[in-house]
Amino acid sequence: LERYIIINLNTNYIKNIISKEEFVEYNQKIHEIHDLLHSKNYNYTDKRGWIDFPAQITEQEIQNIQIFSDIISKKCDVLIIIGIGGSYLGIRAALEFLKSCHYNYFNKPEVFFVGNNMSEDYINNILKICENKEICVNIISKSGSTIECMMAFRIFREFMEKKYGKIKSQERIFCTTSTNNNNLHKISLCENYKIFDIPENIGGRYSVLTHVGLVPLSILGVNIKKILQGAIQARQDFMNLDNICYKYSIIRNILYNKNKKIEIMSGFEPRLKYLFEWWKQLFGESEGKNKQGIFPSSLIYSTDLHSMGQFVQDGTPIFFETVLNFKNSKQDFNIKLPYNNKNLDNLNYLAGKNIEYVNSQAFQATVYAHSRANTPVINIEIDEINEYNLGYLIYFFEKSCAVSAHLLGVDPFNQPGVESYKTKMFELLKNN
Ligand code: PA5
Repeated sequence: LERYIIINLNTNYIKNIISKEEFVEYNQKIHEIHDLLHSKNYNYTDKRGWIDFPAQITEQEIQNIQIFSDIISKKCDVLIIIGIGGSYLGIRAALEFLKSCHYNYFNKPEVFFVGNNMSEDYINNILKICENKEICVNIISKSGSTIECMMAFRIFREFMEKKYGKIKSQERIFCTTSTNNNNLHKISLCENYKIFDIPENIGGRYSVLTHVGLVPLSILGVNIKKILQGAIQARQDFMNLDNICYKYSIIRNILYNKNKKIEIMSGFEPRLKYLFEWWKQLFGESEGKNKQGIFPSSLIYSTDLHSMGQFVQDGTPIFFETVLNFKNSKQDFNIKLPYNNKNLDNLNYLAGKNIEYVNSQAFQATVYAHSRANTPVINIEIDEINEYNLGYLIYFFEKSCAVSAHLLGVDPFNQPGVESYKTKMFELLKNN
């Protein structure tokens, strides 16, 4: 039996841009990077725990998460998730990808994300939304000291204690952090909040498939077991050197060396917006070092064809495009364009056709037009939207990102650059 293909990497559109020989030149390098990523001795920041975590988490632990999440989801109308960067984006990405970007209109508990900015207006709005509802709060911070999250947490702890009292709010607040006596860990121990551990050897942007993502996603009705199964399958598939994950890394590196310094990740479904935000952080923080790296950007079509389409077609040719689409849309709805007698909008030629069909033609036309304009286009085609495939896709990007960073010669797992603004900001806050 031919194995069911979860992701197809279509390279037809770059046939004339990248030769077979260029690919073959990478064989040795890829071999070395693969061995390095899986070796005992690793001379870079050793945060490789994500490679094996999906296969290592026990059945018992998955069950514990499910039992806990059942209790929480019954207790609240609204789940507040406090987190930023890797402690935020993956959760939102998975939720919107699997459910909808209008998740809150169709599901209970609703979810609101705070601690991912420092806007007083934003936090004020969420507090107002929470006023007459039953609330639970999940703070997620690996370092347990990120200012955006810790400020939001103080505000929400006060809110919860006023609403429920100290003891009752302990049953509604839970923390996901490194259990290394950081500030959040100390608060949680002192206040008796439930704690989920983030392994020391997994960095924020590679942590969505740990308790960081698994706990809130399970509360929000996602089948986390299937996500993990998809990731385990990807892990197995990418142990073989000839795989689509390494192929994607090689293509990116070849294009980068051909002066394509920007990658545009594009797709035709609004539900992909946060997956792309997560992907941007993953690749941006992993690769952008030593004055090197591909700048990751994203566009959602057809919306952005009406804003950035001109540039992609005809602007400075410094980018390549990776288009993500689905092979089977397999939805439980069916919206066809109705026939109209007067036909004043001249759309009767589409009467009876699904909106999805028109979207797919826009996809074909866009890929054709952009590649004809000499933009290298890579197409990642996902079989269909489900938990298993999402787990596979997340792992695909994580591993290809680590390999891509090594191809550039940078450390995939550190982020020294993000400290500079923080040092200045704390200096300003303490001296003013
Ligand atoms: O990937 C990273 O390491 C960062 O984006 C972090 O996830 C982000 O800064 C949040 O950090 P923390 O989870 O410690 O609050």
